[in-house]
Amino acid sequence: MHIYIEDISNHIGKNVTLRGWVYNKRSSGKVKFLILRDGTDIIQGILEPGKTDAASFDVFNTLTQESSIQVQAEVREFRGKYELGIQNIQLVHQSKDYPITPKEHGVDFLMDHRHLWLRSSRQHAILRVRSELIQACNDYFMGKGFTLLDAPIFTPSACEGTTTLFEVKYFDDDKVYLTQSGQLYMEAGCMAFGKVYCFGPTFRAEKSKTRRHLTEFWMIEPEVAFNDLDDNMDLAEDFMEYIIGRVLKNKKKELEALERNTKILENTKKPFPRISYPEACEILKKEGVDFQSGSDFGGTDETVLAQKFDKPFFVHRFPSAIKAFYMKEDPKNPSLSLSVDMLAPEGYGEIIGGGQREERIEVLEQKIKEHNLNQKDFEWYFDLRRYGSVPHSGFGMGIERCLAWLCGLQHVRETIPFPRMLYRKTP
Ligand code: 4AD
Ligand code: MG
Repeated sequence: MHIYIEDISNHIGKNVTLRGWVYNKRSSGKVKFLILRDGTDIIQGILEPGKTDAASFDVFNTLTQESSIQVQAEVREFRGKYELGIQNIQLVHQSKDYPITPKEHGVDFLMDHRHLWLRSSRQHAILRVRSELIQACNDYFMGKGFTLLDAPIFTPSACEGTTTLFEVKYFDDDKVYLTQSGQLYMEAGCMAFGKVYCFGPTFRAEKSKTRRHLTEFWMIEPEVAFNDLDDNMDLAEDFMEYIIGRVLKNKKKELEALERNTKILENTKKPFPRISYPEACEILKKEGVDFQSGSDFGGTDETVLAQKFDKPFFVHRFPSAIKAFYMKEDPKNPSLSLSVDMLAPEGYGEIIGGGQREERIEVLEQKIKEHNLNQKDFEWYFDLRRYGSVPHSGFGMGIERCLAWLCGLQHVRETIPFPRMLYRKTP
């Protein structure tokens, strides 16, 4: 019977078949040790004269790193660990000169071999956490009665400013842009379904070469009719507490493999601190950061702020002047917007961006002009303000930014299977 290593504990004393790849091997006299990985886990197998057939020793001698094999073995438990008493090995395919060896390789080399690097235990752990994180996001919103509404990837106009658009030729003389955010479509969605979310790839033609930037990243974006800014923060912190809890519960082994100190993650419990932009500016001033009040936070500013907290926190009410056209102005102070970011602690910075949307058509029309956007492209969006407009809010969380913090990584490039960055579009 074929089994996966992750299910091994259900088969103690049984004879089973495993299929996978050679992770490593070594000899100790007549006894041989084979480390096998099958994608779900890694296990040690033992070849012993008398217990393993003679031909399999010859196969063992030819095995190289990442050769694919099938083994018949008895599952044994030894000092609380599982191992395989190998009876037979069959070679499926011989791997020759696998380029990634246990020695240190530079990041560029590993990135060039990303299609193989995925097999390494560290990358494996990160991407298993990613998989759980995505599932947790979906479960959270589904569990709260949200409808998943997929947003288009080809879009006719900008959502997050015209400077970071990727243009794509669209038949004849026409063109479209790769989406920067599904938000505008979720606004239509929440007026139809009350509460919706989308999850998909988003694109930014940002010429930023930082540890936080990808040109293609995945964003989860909820949008709720009748929610104001405070409701939006309530939702974001409840969501964050849930997804972190899920990863801590289900991906303990992976976080251990990554040597992640999980204390701060365990501390991610509601309520999260909420500070206003002016308060954040005060903190930066006190920290001696050379920061121009009224401007957006740069990477360093976020890092400094995010070192002041021991759990995720909100910064709300950024200046209207630096925010997108759709942000509602604070009725108490129109120079500020009802926007909000959630920043992760330990210097990680922004992982969520969102806010309350402008629901009045006159104000929106004015903003579209001020932002030099084409009124015609937004006629459908204005309809949402013509037919039963209501206050509404939402946010977007970048999966990779969140995962980098969760796993304690230096750079987002390891958080996505095949990263796309300013200088990286292969493999
Ligand atoms: O703050 P952003 O630009 O907000 C929006 O796009 C809103 N329309 C979302 C909404 O309200 N529905 O992006 C949201 C999040 C950021 O907080 C960050 O986590 C991630 O998306 N993000 C990036 N991640 C990786 N690389 C980039 N270049 C990113 N830009 C944004
Ligand atoms: Mg943002």
